[in-house]
Amino acid sequence: LMVQALNDGLIIERFDQFASRLANIFVYARDCTRGSLADYIPELAKQDPESFGLATCSIDGQQAMLGDARTAFCQQSVIKPMIYALAMGLNGENQVHRHVGREPSGRRFNELALDPDNRPHNPMINSGAIMCSAMIRPHWSVADRTSLLARFVSSAAGGEPVDIDEAVYASERATATRNQSLVKLMDEHDAFPEGSDPRTALDVYFRACSLTLDCRRLAVVAATLANGGVCPTTGHRVIDSRIVRNTLSLMLTCGMYDYSGEYAFSVGLPAKSGVSGGLMIVVPGVAGFALWSPRLDRQGNPVRGIEVSRQLVEHFPFHIF
Ligand code: DON
Repeated sequence: LMVQALNDGLIIERFDQFASRLANIFVYARDCTRGSLADYIPELAKQDPESFGLATCSIDGQQAMLGDARTAFCQQSVIKPMIYALAMGLNGENQVHRHVGREPSGRRFNELALDPDNRPHNPMINSGAIMCSAMIRPHWSVADRTSLLARFVSSAAGGEPVDIDEAVYASERATATRNQSLVKLMDEHDAFPEGSDPRTALDVYFRACSLTLDCRRLAVVAATLANGGVCPTTGHRVIDSRIVRNTLSLMLTCGMYDYSGEYAFSVGLPAKSGVSGGLMIVVPGVAGFALWSPRLDRQGNPVRGIEVSRQLVEHFPFHIF
């Protein structure tokens, strides 16, 4: 970093000043106590509503952490962009998009609905992520498919292994009628690729949702996406740049459930939220941000996450337009 600072300058100059302004945003957003915990997965209702972590990593690897940024939490839907990116790396863009669309659904994330071609609308909602899970090495065991995804996430997060929250997994699996219905709906319409198995796809999806990261490491994942697929802390290429482009495009249009249009308008950044209160935000060419705060709004987005997003673009020139 020193050499880079002397030679070319850093992407965020005076990072300490940037970090202290971020701390102000953190304190401001912490006052926000609206919203409630997801409880349709019973284990998620046990989270501490006051938990609040925020972390950032720039594309040149400068990092800042606030609050509970080192507490691991299950990723839930925040992992969907990585499921999609892995499926695309294994199958290619055309094959993946034969089976999943790229339009926002405008509906809830678990709505029983398919697009006019009988595909899930996009990979950022449950149906689309289950479909992408079906395309991750369909002939391997669920355990091997999960560890392939976990290793992929781990490389994007800077390399340490990624664990699974078994309690969340069991809890979600035991209360899965809606996702089972989605699988049946897709199966009824012959939406799954030849040779895939809808039932194990759902299990891979549940395990993916239970993978855990803390904000510190999730910010590195976001920074890998901001950096065209090269992890800023290891220098390794983890994701092909074309796949990053596709993933960020869909995060921008579909990443915030049925709030995606409003978020794209007012925040203007690719992001992905999850029902455990996680949120990753990508500022392309600059940095990644990760946040965790379990209280959710009506659409299922973390209330403090929306607040931080708004503040970020208020204080820094991050809105991509
Ligand atoms: O399948 C579910 O309902 C959860 N595992 C994930 C939901 C979530 O975070 C929101 N999805 N877009």
